[in-house]
Amino acid sequence: MSTTTARNETEASGVAVMPERRDLHFLPPADRIQDWHALGPHMTQFMNTLSLFFPAGERMFIDAVRSYRDQVPDPDLKKAATAFIGQEAMHSREHVEYNKLMAEAGLPADKLDEFVWDLLDWLRDNTPRSFPLSATIALEHFTALMGNALLDKPEVIAGSQEDYERMWLWHALEEVEHKAVAYDVYEKTIGRGPLAYLLRSGGMVSATVIFWPLVLAFYLRMTAASEACRKVGWRGHLKVANTLFGRPGIFRRLIPEWLGYFRYSFHPWQQDNSHHLAMIDKLAAEAEAAYDTTRH
Ligand SMILES: [Fe+2]
Ligand SMILES: [Fe+2]
Repeated sequence: MSTTTARNETEASGVAVMPERRDLHFLPPADRIQDWHALGPHMTQFMNTLSLFFPAGERMFIDAVRSYRDQVPDPDLKKAATAFIGQEAMHSREHVEYNKLMAEAGLPADKLDEFVWDLLDWLRDNTPRSFPLSATIALEHFTALMGNALLDKPEVIAGSQEDYERMWLWHALEEVEHKAVAYDVYEKTIGRGPLAYLLRSGGMVSATVIFWPLVLAFYLRMTAASEACRKVGWRGHLKVANTLFGRPGIFRRLIPEWLGYFRYSFHPWQQDNSHHLAMIDKLAAEAEAAYDTTRH
């Protein structure tokens, strides 16, 4: 689907890509939780840190979209919103299991997870109803960009323990698949005018200045608590920094796309990366087979 086609379909029917809820389980092995990533224990803890934000974060996304769903006039978009909620609920469930492995390994996962829940509860209780939705579409932009980066450069995770790798690829794919749903709900209920633009830009500025410093602080806590990281020492941090900002520099490459969010006419499907979705069915079948084997 070309960029303009994806956007035109969104304009015409309300939905460019209809997401699908997939009830998949991953059960990654507990004994690899501190060193499952091919790039070593520091990269493992960087990804583990991102996982700590999902249970509470995805709960906020679900609540924000659900609180506006009944106001959506378009039946297809309503259906997509329901599928979005279903996908995020599955992600959250799997990341809760994943995060338990960190806590059981002696990492401060429970404490950090609780901090995110408290923060998001506070934001919900102390901001207007529209704020969680504007923060959701901003954070969904981040998850879609990071998911796309992983799908564009699978070599960044290739060779890792395969259940962890599969789980992250599944999450990345579904983030791409539903990347415009919350955004379309926002446009259809809050609008597309100057005020709606200011609110969504404010949501992005808030999400950026709150989320990324927390990621850094959590990552430092996790690596300090990990014996595997302590053994590697500071070179592990350099490796992560190089992967994200040097070569291949997956985050450095995201900066123009992050800035693109501030265009007045921005829409997530202006970047048409729907070709990645062709691999979802194969990945889901592999995940089901691996789960059956692990359970029996
Ligand atoms: Fe998700
Ligand atoms: Fe999402």
